[in-house]
Amino acid sequence: MGVALLGYGTVGKAFFEMASERKDIKVKWLLALNAPDEIDCTVTDDFDDIINDPEVDTVVELIGGLHPAYEYVKKALHAGKNVVTANKWLMAIYYRELVQTAWGNGTALRCTAAAGGGIPWLHSLARISETDKVSRVWGIMNGTSNYILSAMTSQGVSYEDALAEAQRLGYAEVDPTADVEGYDARRKLVISANIAFGCCLREEEVPCQGITQITSSQVSENKFKGKVFKLIAHAEQKADGSVSAAVEPLLFDSNEQEANVKGADNMIALEAERVGIQAFFGAGAGGYPTASNVLADCIEISQGCEPFYVKL
Ligand code: HSE
Repeated sequence: MGVALLGYGTVGKAFFEMASERKDIKVKWLLALNAPDEIDCTVTDDFDDIINDPEVDTVVELIGGLHPAYEYVKKALHAGKNVVTANKWLMAIYYRELVQTAWGNGTALRCTAAAGGGIPWLHSLARISETDKVSRVWGIMNGTSNYILSAMTSQGVSYEDALAEAQRLGYAEVDPTADVEGYDARRKLVISANIAFGCCLREEEVPCQGITQITSSQVSENKFKGKVFKLIAHAEQKADGSVSAAVEPLLFDSNEQEANVKGADNMIALEAERVGIQAFFGAGAGGYPTASNVLADCIEISQGCEPFYVKL
């Protein structure tokens, strides 16, 4: 598989390293603002170099943000190249359009790393949605806010110090507003709901409250009562097909499953008619875990596995 990598941040670097260890994947091109001086591939700032290279069959988009990621992905799909992305914002906003473009051009579009970091959540959700009727998805979908709430609760660390540490560890977005205001979790919820319910939920339709209003004294008062705050994203589809969804901080008893999701881990669950409740737990952010899902998507595409999550 010939790959062009867009972006060389925390996840991009980890992906490059992991792909370089394999014989079946060759990263031919790197397009990144911070490309290193010495790297075992060709560096370019012209996306047309990638589009015009017949040896590139898959574009891995890890630059994040909406633009120019959208333009690159659209162009790649139109040029008949597969796309693997970890970009939750892009997939939440342009879900229908990009899935249809991929479908129309007979290419694959996969985004397992866009929700759940290293957890194969979207992959499993898509599989279950094929055979069952999913009525509910919910969970802790943002590693940074969970890291902050965990540090404030267990070690009494201030919000500011916990956020700085989450940034240092590479969990937070470049601008962490999306993490702490709940927008990142909302994007992951929208993608999950779209796959689970075959709908086209939009970000702005989902009420969203982050963790910035939670004070250290609220955290310690609730800890004293045996309760912990968690940022929960949830979406439900009713029998009439309508979907309700929200992102909000909720309190859990310290013996509940959600309360015991620590650090940057995520726990995401679904409820379906036949399989009942299934919960997925693991590293929700970070270079190697997220890059593992990106790499797994590439490998599955090269093996000819299902190109889309949902056929709209
Ligand atoms: N900033 C995101 C998080 C990265 O903290 O969950 C993984 O999507």
